[in-house]
Amino acid sequence: MRIPIIAGNWKMNATVSEAVQLVRDMLPGMEKIDGVEKVICPPFVSLWALKDLLKNSVVKLAAQNLYYQEKGAYTGEVSPGMVRELCDYVIIGHSERRAYFGETDELVNRKVHAALKVGLNPIVCVGETLEKREQGKAEEVVAGQIKNGLAGVELGPTMVIAYEPVWAIGTGRAATPDDANRMAKLIRESIAAISAPALARDIRIQYGGSVTASNIAEFIVRKEIDGALVGGASLKAAEFVSILEQTARLKKA
Ligand code: 13P
Repeated sequence: MRIPIIAGNWKMNATVSEAVQLVRDMLPGMEKIDGVEKVICPPFVSLWALKDLLKNSVVKLAAQNLYYQEKGAYTGEVSPGMVRELCDYVIIGHSERRAYFGETDELVNRKVHAALKVGLNPIVCVGETLEKREQGKAEEVVAGQIKNGLAGVELGPTMVIAYEPVWAIGTGRAATPDDANRMAKLIRESIAAISAPALARDIRIQYGGSVTASNIAEFIVRKEIDGALVGGASLKAAEFVSILEQTARLKKA
C-alpha cells in the first residue's frame, strides 16, 4: 500500500510573514484530513518559522533544493545537514532548476546521494520538454533522467518521484490523466530496471503540472499516480485543502 502524498511547491513566492499567514489559513483544513501525507515546500527563509508553527502538526516540510557538499566555501548554498534540521523532504531536479540554473542529471544524482546520506527523503523531479515530446522522445528523456539521476542510489520506499512534463508547468495545460498514468508506469519500470522490483512497486509517483482542485480527481484515481506536486494552486489555502480532501477521499475508495 502506497500512502498518497501531496506536496505544495511554493517556488519563489511568499515572504516569511506571508508564508506564516498562508499556513495559518490552511492548517485547520489540513489537520482534518487523514490518509494523505501533506507536505509544504516554501522558500528556505520561511522553513524555520514554519517548522515552529507546525511543531504539533503532521504536516511536513520540504526544501525546494539543496547543495550536495556538507559545508564550506559555497556562498549562497544550503547544505543537506542544514535542510535536515528543518525538513523531512527535499525537492531535487525541478525542471526550473534544470532550465534556469543548469542542473544536469549528474548534479541531480549527487544531490540525491547527499540528501539520503543525512536522512532526507528526496522528491526527484523528471519530465520532458515540449520539443522532446513533439520529437516522440518523452519516454526516452524520462527513462534517462531516472537512470542517470538515480544511478548508484539505494532506493527506499519513502522516496518520491514527481513526473512533471515541462510543457504542463504553469501553463494551465495539464497532461491528460491517461498520459500521466502511462508515464508513471514507465517511471516504475525504469526504477525496476535499476532496483528490486518490490521497491519499484513501493515508490510513490506524483504527477505535477497545472494541477488544480478541478482536475486533481482525474489524476488521483489512476493506478500508478500516488499524489501530486502542486505549484500555483498550493498558494491558495482553500484550493490546496480541497486537493488534499479529494485525494484522501478518492484514494480511500
Ligand atoms: P504548477 O502547478 O503551477 O503548474 O507547477 C507545477 C510545478 O512545477 C510543481 O513543482
